[in-house]
Amino acid sequence: MGKMILAVYYSQTGQLKQIVDNFTQPLVEAGHSVEFLEVKMAHPFPFPWPTDQFFDTVPDSVEVVPAALEAWETKHSHYDLVILGWQPWNLSPSIPFNSIMQDEKFKSIIKNTSVITISGCRNMWINAQEKNKRLIKAAESKLVGNIALMDMHSNHISYFTILHWMGTGRKDRKWGIFPKPGVSDEVIQNVSVFGKVVNKYLQTGEWEELQPELIKKGAVRVKYSLMFIEHKAGKIFQKWVNLIRKFPKKRKLLLAIYKYYITIALLIVSPIILLVDFIFFRPFLQKRIKKQINYYSGVEIK
Ligand SMILES: Cc1cc2nc3c(=O)[nH]c(=O)nc-3n(C[C@H](O)[C@H](O)[C@H](O)COP(=O)(O)O)c2cc1C
Repeated sequence: MGKMILAVYYSQTGQLKQIVDNFTQPLVEAGHSVEFLEVKMAHPFPFPWPTDQFFDTVPDSVEVVPAALEAWETKHSHYDLVILGWQPWNLSPSIPFNSIMQDEKFKSIIKNTSVITISGCRNMWINAQEKNKRLIKAAESKLVGNIALMDMHSNHISYFTILHWMGTGRKDRKWGIFPKPGVSDEVIQNVSVFGKVVNKYLQTGEWEELQPELIKKGAVRVKYSLMFIEHKAGKIFQKWVNLIRKFPKKRKLLLAIYKYYITIALLIVSPIILLVDFIFFRPFLQKRIKKQINYYSGVEIK
């Protein structure tokens, strides 16, 4: 029998919309009813982004502070499955996504309901997904699957290409030399494979084996070096936000400094720390690292 599915998303560039469309296509073809809910802000964020406004999102995204949404409605008050399309901003759920997740009406829709998270990002989503897990838990819903798509180019390359994309609004090759930013067309095309997997489990509603199968099909890839950087960076971001909270009048100045700090930390300092870790620590922590990678690949909520 056809199930009722709600697919929620926010997308500035259209990338996440494309991902959610391709993901849900096999579900529509299988005869389920899929309703889309686009999250719209009462005060929309700009795209392309002026630099100052881009970095001004740091405090509220890191602290998961919601902003006002445009009025929204769904046809039903309960669904068999809710697909949560989201993207990380500053190693945290994007402000539009955190806002819908903290909306009381939305929380009542996903209460006691199975949810699947699906995201498209540059390459750092782990920290943010941990925050998502807390939001999902607070809404008393059940995370049964996660698909995390990202830019497969090196951390250095994608740093430049994403800033080009965000600053110009064009998902094309910077100076005609750099690769295209974001999730590749090929990966976006392939998302329907994950939709087909979900369809199998939708009939029975027994979701235990869904995530292991999604992992086998490549729906999440946790890379050690990125996990390592994110772990450190998440704590540093929080320190900056604490500082901004303590000196609200200096917000502009602090964020201007943060912008340079983060660039240097990511491009210059992190490869050095990674090298030190690779030589002195990583060889002795294999078991722990494997456990961490397994945890972040899965849907368990600690
Ligand atoms: C303010 C801002 C911060 C972002 N921070 C991250 C991040 O921490 N990690 C990451 O992998 N991608 C990050 N991105 C990229 C987004 O996750 C997303 O992939 C991209 O903006 C595509 O936009 P869309 O999903 O709205 O279409 C950021 C984007 C914005 C606008």
